[in-house]
Amino acid sequence: MAQIFHPSMNTLSKATIFGGLFLVASLAFAWDRFNRSAYMTDADVVRDQPVPFSHEHHVRGLGIDCRYCHTTVEQSAFAGIPATEICMNCHSQIWKDSPMLQPVRDSYRSGKPLKWTRVHDVPDFVYFNHSIHVAKGIGCESCHGRVDQMPLMRRTQTLQMGWCLECHARPQEFIRDRKDIYEFGKPARTDAREHGQELVKEYGIDKKQLQDCWICHR
Ligand code: HEC
Ligand code: HEC
Ligand code: HEC
Ligand code: HEC
Ligand code: HEC
Repeated sequence: MAQIFHPSMNTLSKATIFGGLFLVASLAFAWDRFNRSAYMTDADVVRDQPVPFSHEHHVRGLGIDCRYCHTTVEQSAFAGIPATEICMNCHSQIWKDSPMLQPVRDSYRSGKPLKWTRVHDVPDFVYFNHSIHVAKGIGCESCHGRVDQMPLMRRTQTLQMGWCLECHARPQEFIRDRKDIYEFGKPARTDAREHGQELVKEYGIDKKQLQDCWICHR
């Protein structure tokens, strides 16, 4: 009997089937990437603020400690956003006539707080707490990036669940000595891997519990 399909069709149909599978896989991958992209998660987007406050200038240039402005980062869930009075400690004398600082002076006079736009914000059904992370050796840099090099604040991480879990599954890769919490751009130790394991033990971190749903969704 004459063949209906030429033998070469076998290869062709295989190619089509596999090609189709490949296409589906690539689309799924692309979709996943898109969902995690800066566009979808708003990472790296600079927000409008009442005053163009520069962390680069105040932190790296002037050497002001994070805790001078974010006073509760070690004690509470909330790191704290500085009150106008804190700015005025210096700006009642420095750049006191600058138009850029007019909103700060207005706020000081009227007693109405400045309305800073939030850059980081996890949904209400997620429990997040700064103090525990700081106490267990996670540096600001691990979650906020090179704040000391930001003329304007931006978010460097997605803050999605997968991101939290990446560290909760392998804290040894991110943990540092407590004295280095406020360090930026410090070169990694040559024995980083062993040291990370040691710190996880020393700080009594329970990796199993860190991946339980209820710790973040309570
Ligand atoms: C002189 C005061 C001051 C100092 C010092 C300071 N900050 Fe800030 N920080 C601010 C102000 C004001 C804002 C709100 C405006 C903005 O987002 O740019 C802010 C915002 C932030 C935000 C984003 C908050 C949000 O809306 O999600 C992060 C993260 C942050 N600071 C981290 C740090 C870190 C880390 C340090 C130390 C390396 C630091 N800051 C030092 C004043 C300060
Ligand atoms: C410990 C002192 C100090 C505090 C507190 C402080 N500043 Fe400044 N700020 C300075 C100095 C000094 C300069 C000028 C630096 C220069 O000209 O080189 C400056 C410059 C600025 C400028 C000019 C633009 C720039 O970055 O060069 C803005 C805007 C500003 N500060 C906003 C703020 C706000 C808002 C706060 C409160 C959240 C604040 N500062 C708190 C010391 C301070
Ligand atoms: C484990 C990751 C992580 C670490 C470490 C971390 N932050 Fe945050 N930070 C976040 C998240 C997530 C938010 C958003 C919290 C929310 O929406 O409730 C945030 C928000 C902030 C805010 C806005 C105010 C607030 O509390 O919501 C400031 C300011 C801030 N962080 C400063 C700091 C400073 C300073 C350090 C270092 C001492 C630090 N953070 C360390 C993850 C982290
Ligand atoms: C870079 C590492 C890192 C990242 C990123 C991180 N965490 Fe954690 N988290 C830790 C470590 C370390 C602990 C302390 C574990 C312990 O005490 O055993 C912790 C503890 C916690 C706890 C337990 C607090 C308590 O009171 O018991 C919660 C809740 C939590 N993290 C939520 C989050 C959420 C939500 C995110 C993402 C928005 C996040 N974490 C991102 C490292 C991280
Ligand atoms: C380390 C903290 C953490 C743990 C542990 C965690 N989640 Fe989440 N979860 C988050 C964060 C952060 C978000 C918000 C994601 C966003 O804003 O996109 C989230 C969002 C969700 C959502 C909403 C849908 C979505 O994907 O945005 C569901 C459902 C969820 N989590 C279920 C779970 C379940 C089930 C577990 C246990 C297997 C779990 N989570 C463990 C941090 C956590």
